[in-house]
Amino acid sequence: MASPIDAVNNPAASEPADPDQKQAKRVDVGANAVGPVVETRGLTKRYGSRTVVDALDMQIPAGVVAGFIGPNGAGKTTTLRMLLGLVRPSGGSGQVFGRPLDTPAGYLPRVGALIESPAFYRELSGERNLAVQAALGGHNMTRVPVVLERVGLADRGGDRYRTYSLGMKQRLGIAGALLGDPRLLILDEPTNGLDPAGIRDMRSLPLSCPERPDRTGLLTLARRSSAGVRLAGRDRARTSGVPGTHSTAACGP
Ligand SMILES: Nc1ncnc2c1ncn2[C@@H]1O[C@H](COP(=O)(O)OP(=O)(O)O)[C@@H](O)[C@H]1O
Ligand SMILES: [Mg+2]
Repeated sequence: MASPIDAVNNPAASEPADPDQKQAKRVDVGANAVGPVVETRGLTKRYGSRTVVDALDMQIPAGVVAGFIGPNGAGKTTTLRMLLGLVRPSGGSGQVFGRPLDTPAGYLPRVGALIESPAFYRELSGERNLAVQAALGGHNMTRVPVVLERVGLADRGGDRYRTYSLGMKQRLGIAGALLGDPRLLILDEPTNGLDPAGIRDMRSLPLSCPERPDRTGLLTLARRSSAGVRLAGRDRARTSGVPGTHSTAACGP
């Protein structure tokens, strides 16, 4: 059965190497003074007799945007759900910002996430939807125009959500994840369902945050090549000893 680890460690399943990876720089997780932002050890999820996440060890240092790559059913979303405290692990352990996964209230205020499809009101505008989300999340309303601008929807924010293209809906979902100005941004297959033009659009997004190196991103992708996400970092990096985590863009200062 596919697991995230098998999926990314199986060379046959890998996409051709990105040319940029030639400049890959190794990032030693331990070299980061503040420790990894995300760390799992033996993280496991079983549903009945089926093991869907199998003893996953993952370490993501601050300041990188890590891609978590594997085919459908590999357990990517389940892993993210465990990191967000939405699904209880069956075994192993994990920490986010040094806090254990069973105390999500201790770290979730610093995390923004978009898991699978965003849920928005069809009849409200993108802007109103974000305002609702900001109110529910306790975020400052001044963030709404900031994040709309950030994802390139500033001129379409007044349009009803139901009139948005798939790519615009994805962008709005990302805007929602950015509302809290998170230090860790988690996006589940942000290019999912997009046509090549949509993926090109995504490429222009400063997907993770990274105007500051204390910002970290974790994206899942079904295929390496779907990483049309050209992230805002300058250096490309590969986290060391991180099964399930592929080439990344480090955030510039
Ligand atoms: N709530 C659940 N109950 C039972 N099986 C589940 C549940 N959620 C996910 N699964 C199973 O776990 C496996 C991994 O799913 P998922 O994490 O969504 O994979 P991915 O995101 O990599 O496509 C799949 O076989 C899926 O059917
Ligand atoms: Mg998934």
